[in-house]
Amino acid sequence: MRGVNVLAPVRNVQVDSYLDGSALASMADDVRAGLTREPKELPPKYFYDERGSNLFEQITALPEYYPTRIERALLNRYAQEIVTANAAEELVELGSGSASKTRALLYAMAAQGTLRRYVPVDVSESVVERCADELVEMYPGLRVHGLVGDFEAHLQHLPRGERRVVAFLGGTIGNLYPPERARFLRSLAELLGPHDRLLIGTDLVKDRELLEAAYDDSEGVTAEFNRNVLHAINRELDGNFDVATFDHVAVFDPEASWIEMRLRARGEQRVRVPGAGVEVTFGDGEEMRTEISTKFTRERLERELAAAGLGLERFMTDAGGLFGLTLAAPAERASSGAA
Ligand code: SAH
Ligand code: TRP
Repeated sequence: MRGVNVLAPVRNVQVDSYLDGSALASMADDVRAGLTREPKELPPKYFYDERGSNLFEQITALPEYYPTRIERALLNRYAQEIVTANAAEELVELGSGSASKTRALLYAMAAQGTLRRYVPVDVSESVVERCADELVEMYPGLRVHGLVGDFEAHLQHLPRGERRVVAFLGGTIGNLYPPERARFLRSLAELLGPHDRLLIGTDLVKDRELLEAAYDDSEGVTAEFNRNVLHAINRELDGNFDVATFDHVAVFDPEASWIEMRLRARGEQRVRVPGAGVEVTFGDGEEMRTEISTKFTRERLERELAAAGLGLERFMTDAGGLFGLTLAAPAERASSGAA
């Protein structure tokens, strides 16, 4: 415990990490399970080491990757209406990344005189620390309480708060599979008090060409990002993936309504990952799924929110209907009979 020292500068930043020794063990389990499945698959959260986070930042600036630009424009346009809905005092952001778009919300909260705290949550330790430091500089008096952890596993560690906006931007919710997404939305609904709001950014269904280009840019940055999961496995689990021999593939599956990212082996190869206790063979051209990115409609969002006990309050989109921002609130609890 630190004693009170009136001469010490007030430090408005706190960052708690919930990634402990078990993180590597669960990576090993995930990788073993994925590589021994048919077809093979790898879990996407391992894209985001320091290098992966930097590559993702580059993706957000690519001409083909429209989601970031449009979501930023929507946030700039609607921030004030969003934060006045519940006189928001606190912004909790899941998968916050560099939080570059979020600033519009903080700015609007500061302007209405209610801004108290920002709570970024991300698996990437470096991005949480960097953005915490930047934001306390920008907003004197703002407290930042960052959580380094998994938003699917560590939400119980969120500090208690009132009049919160819980933001989940960037279409990240679309990276969860439907059952995980349903579970995740239910856990969010449980967390929200009557004066809290949920703000979700989702990419919307559109032409295949536009969608596939957004996930397969001409400079090859997305390809490098996709392959980064192999670098992470080589480093953390002593793997021997020959990274350059895996090609990036991005295809839209209209049935499932998602973009599927895959890595395709060029030539037959044997790969050992001692840290995960596996050795597997890839056939020439064999594809392994690394991530999905679901594309929504307003109707589907409304239905999924309702199933989790959440009511859609506002749906905001651009003139082209490319990207959507949804503001939701806990549905009336009266009918459930709960207090
Ligand atoms: N919100 C930012 C970043 C989106 S990229 C934007 O809109 O641009 C997705 C972010 O979620 C990354 O910063 C990644 O590190 C984080 N992330 C991915 N899976 C996560 C998980 N399971 N728990 C916590 N953070 C996660
Ligand atoms: N949440 C982002 C999305 O689904 C993540 C993302 C963007 C991504 N580009 C990617 C993931 C390329 C893998 C590969 O749009």
